[in-house]
Amino acid sequence: MKVGIITSGGDAPGMNAAIRAVVRYAIPRGIETIGIERGWGGLLDNSIIPLTRKSVEGIIHLGGTILKTTRCQEFFTPRGYYKAMKVIKENKINALIVIGGDGSMWGSVQLNEVSGIPIIGIPATIDNDVAFTDETIGFDTAVNTCIEAIDKIRTTARSLERIFLIETMGRERGFLALQVGITAGVGVILVPEIKYNIEEVCERLRDFKQRGKRTSLIVAAEGIGDTSTIAENIEKITGFEIRISKLGYIQRGGAPTGRSRLLANLFGTYAVDLLLKGVYNEMVGIKDGKIISTDLKKVINTRKKLDMKLFTMAKELAV
Ligand code: F6P
Repeated sequence: MKVGIITSGGDAPGMNAAIRAVVRYAIPRGIETIGIERGWGGLLDNSIIPLTRKSVEGIIHLGGTILKTTRCQEFFTPRGYYKAMKVIKENKINALIVIGGDGSMWGSVQLNEVSGIPIIGIPATIDNDVAFTDETIGFDTAVNTCIEAIDKIRTTARSLERIFLIETMGRERGFLALQVGITAGVGVILVPEIKYNIEEVCERLRDFKQRGKRTSLIVAAEGIGDTSTIAENIEKITGFEIRISKLGYIQRGGAPTGRSRLLANLFGTYAVDLLLKGVYNEMVGIKDGKIISTDLKKVINTRKKLDMKLFTMAKELAV
């Protein structure tokens, strides 16, 4: 069996650990592994490299992906799927393991429908917005990157007694912002899934001030809208000095944490086992600590729920 490994969409710390796990687990089980460079675009360009044990030496600790990735619009067209199918046939690829986020899982379903190529998905994105897995590879690393940044912002916030609004990534979802808000111990968490009232936010900030809290930090998911305007409005309403810090792309970078590497190893080996059992078109995931797999079509048609209990707990503990 020849299996193509592809990393697609936004890179996530731990993708390399997953590539390494697939290669090192597949080869002794008689599977030939190849890498498709630059995501779906690389499939269209026939950008293919062999992946041996040596190829994946010394990468478990590296962020990003040695296979590189792209956001390739051409792929998501009938012509793109046809071109991909041709490359798959020419290279005699029997199956694909696609490592990426919800967009990559969606692309996998489309490609499978057009070409019939068996696919196993491995969820890897800092957004953690993929259904049927409690956690995606890279999420824990991004959370820790944000915590470190916010702990640093907290020192200057205290010195100048300023309010800080820290914007996190997460696309349209609030999983990253919520987990960061809880673990960095901030006073206000704004996520797209929960409507907020700017007056109530200001009231809460006034209450903090009256209680003598020395810092008031707000974590806002990028998906709630223009965070600069939101910060300006808060300053206008409260009269408190506010600064904004958009964490940006550092959230995608850095060495994967042990947790992200563990998920990468568990997901990578489980993906190979599924292929060996003849189980296709599923995505690997973790549910209550157990490694599972779910039909890819079900994954892409399910919107992952935010845990409202976590949100309520964060609000209560911040006072
Ligand atoms: O999906 C991961 C992610 O980092 C999102 O959180 C963010 O909104 C998006 O990618 C940024 O996309 P790009 O890397 O194309 O600018």
